[in-house]
Amino acid sequence: MNTNTPWPAVDQSFLADLATRTPAPFTHGLSGDPRFSLDAIARLGDELGAESISAEQASKPLVSADAGAATALEVVAVSDQIRALAANDSWFTLLNIEQSEPYRELVDQLLEGMAANAGLDPRTMRRRMGFVFASSPGSVTSAHFDIEHSFLLQLEGHRKLGFGKFADREQREREVHRYWNGSYGRLDTMPEQVAEFDLAPGLGAYIPPYHPHWLSNGDSTSLSLTVTFFDRSNGDESMVQAFNEKIRRLGIDPSVYGDAPRRDRAKVAFMRVYGAAKSRITGPETSASH
Ligand SMILES: [Fe+2]
Repeated sequence: MNTNTPWPAVDQSFLADLATRTPAPFTHGLSGDPRFSLDAIARLGDELGAESISAEQASKPLVSADAGAATALEVVAVSDQIRALAANDSWFTLLNIEQSEPYRELVDQLLEGMAANAGLDPRTMRRRMGFVFASSPGSVTSAHFDIEHSFLLQLEGHRKLGFGKFADREQREREVHRYWNGSYGRLDTMPEQVAEFDLAPGLGAYIPPYHPHWLSNGDSTSLSLTVTFFDRSNGDESMVQAFNEKIRRLGIDPSVYGDAPRRDRAKVAFMRVYGAAKSRITGPETSASH
C-alpha cells in the first residue's frame, strides 16, 4: 500500500471493519504537512475563534464523569497558548476545522482517498468534519465514545489508544442517554480494555461509532487530526436516539434503536424533516469529544 498519499492507507478489507464497527489501524502520509505545523494550527485556531476551541488541563483521570468541566481551561489567546504547548500542560481541540475552506477541502480529500482505497462509495459519507488535537506531554483523553465514524491520524508525538467495550446493553443505553444530555460521550466508569494501539507519526486508527476509547500521551507534545463522517448506519441510529430523548422529556418511554425497525424508520423520517427545519435556524450541530 502506498503510504505517500496523505489519507488512511486502508484496503478493501476495511469495508468489513466499517460494517461491523471494528477498530482498525492504518498508515498515512500526512505527517510533516505544513498545514499541521504547530504554527499553522495556532493560526487556524485564531481563524476559527474561541467558540471553536475546547481547552482543558493536560493531566486528568481516564474517567471524568463531569464532561471535563473540572479541568476546563480558559481560552485567552489561542495561538499563544497552542504555541506554548510543550510547557503549559494543556490540551486543545480545534472543532470543525472544515469551517476553513482549505481544511474543508483537505477533510474531503482524506475521506475520499480512503474511500477509493476501500472501494467505498464517497456519496455515503455525510456530515464530514475535522478536528485537530494538540496536547502537552503527559496529556490524557478520558474514556468516551463518539457517534461518528472517526479516522485518527497521528501527526506528531507518540500516544497509546485504548479500546474498551460496554459491559452490557444496559450500560450502553445509559451512556447513550447521558450523551444526549450533555456528557459528550464521556463515560462515568472505566470500561474493560479489549485492545490497545500504539500511535506514532504516520500511524492512525479507525475508531467506530459507539465504541469506548481513551488516549494517553508519551513524554512529547502530540498533534493529531481526526476526520469523521456519518453514513446510514450511525446516521439513523443517532437520529433515533435524538428522537427518543425528545419524547422521553414528554414522559414517554421509547423503544431502543434496533428493537422496532419500522418505528425506527418513522423516527428517522421525522428527524430528517425536523433536523432540516432546525438547521436552517440554528446552523449545524457539532460534536466535541474525539
Ligand atoms: Fe474519540
